[in-house]
Amino acid sequence: MKRISLLGSTGSIGRSTLSVVEKFPGLFRVVALAAGNNIDLLEKQVRQFRPLIVSVVSPASAESLKKRCSGLEVRILSGIEGMIQAAAVEEADVTVSAIVGTAGLVPTMAAIRAGKDIALANKEVLVTAGELVMAECRDRNIRILPVDSEHSAIFQCLRAGENRDVKRIILTASGGPFREYSKKDLAEATLAQALKHPNWNMGKKITIDSATLMNKGLEVIEARWLFDIGPESISVLVHPQSIIHSLVEYRDGALVAQLGMPDMKGPIAYALSYPDRLPEAAPALDLARAGALTFEEPDLDRFPCLAYAYDALRAGGSMPAVLSAANETAVGYFLEEKIGYGDIALVIRATMDAHNPARISTVEDALKADLWARREAEKIIESGKLGS
Ligand SMILES: NC(=O)c1ccc[n+]([C@@H]2O[C@H](COP(=O)([O-])OP(=O)(O)OC[C@H]3O[C@@H](n4cnc5c(N)ncnc54)[C@H](OP(=O)(O)O)[C@@H]3O)[C@@H](O)[C@H]2O)c1
Repeated sequence: MKRISLLGSTGSIGRSTLSVVEKFPGLFRVVALAAGNNIDLLEKQVRQFRPLIVSVVSPASAESLKKRCSGLEVRILSGIEGMIQAAAVEEADVTVSAIVGTAGLVPTMAAIRAGKDIALANKEVLVTAGELVMAECRDRNIRILPVDSEHSAIFQCLRAGENRDVKRIILTASGGPFREYSKKDLAEATLAQALKHPNWNMGKKITIDSATLMNKGLEVIEARWLFDIGPESISVLVHPQSIIHSLVEYRDGALVAQLGMPDMKGPIAYALSYPDRLPEAAPALDLARAGALTFEEPDLDRFPCLAYAYDALRAGGSMPAVLSAANETAVGYFLEEKIGYGDIALVIRATMDAHNPARISTVEDALKADLWARREAEKIIESGKLGS
């Protein structure tokens, strides 16, 4: 029986994780839940999964949840302290990191320091402080098991050969809802259009990141740290059907790919059960019905965010944290329809251009760079000098 602390339980990955737990009740037990403020769903999750500890963002949400759950044996906490306690709870074997954005960094680090294995969905954790997080994992002999479908695919493909024989890893990208849009169409793209992902049903932030291809950029940085491989050996290939989840090219010319239906329950189940595979964890792929699988190069002219992520990775230090925080800020404004789709890339570029990368030696350094970038991005947006 593997005991799980689930951070981000009310989100898309959180809910899929609980479906996996529900499907294999003899294998998993949820001991902690943490989320933002969706206490309607949290109450249902507490009643069904009976965790020992639950954490929410605000004290007011914690008070309401306590009233709703009176009579149940559960500790209900709030704030960053509460999240840290949920992430590092003594009874957990593995912590699923599925909060969105930099908010996941501190609790994920707390879980690592408490000796938990990490099933990592939150890519922003490694973008913001990848070197630091991986060093901490190495020092403590902690495993990070990727949940992101592309990284889960790479993780599986790497079992086919030796790391020294890897020539390149190839991350596939659906291309998002705007793959076929011209530059002119992109300039007029709306929030509703950006939120319609062709293949995946995900949280709003990652859905917008998929529409700008920043999601792939963040994944390139995530892959750099997870697999200890330089940016020159990571490429991106647009594959609109999202059937091949990523590939590894070996030096003898062999390409090893992982295929499956676009369903996050597959990678989640693998991260939780590794090295075992659970029966029918995700729907099976029928290749005869899948139709043609097609591939194309990403267009960095129409989707510059992907190029900015490579730039940030090459610049190193605090630049990836700045890229990620500027993106989170710009996406937040776009979700409130205060800036246009094209402004997201402009805000990120301008924030990066205003930054001198510094070394990140502590979580505090990473959070400082993150905060600086948020303020800078807000300043750029509020100045009203954006192009669109
Ligand atoms: N969705 C996917 O298919 C997918 C695939 C690969 C990787 N990922 C990555 O997984 C992460 C989660 O994505 P998602 O799509 O599941 O996002 P989501 O649906 O928006 O869910 C986000 C979760 O984080 C919680 N949360 C947000 N801000 C918080 C805060 N300050 N403190 C504590 N909890 C907070 C939310 O709680 P409330 O709802 O209660 O506010 C919710 O439980 C992201 O980093 C994403 O890039 C997602």
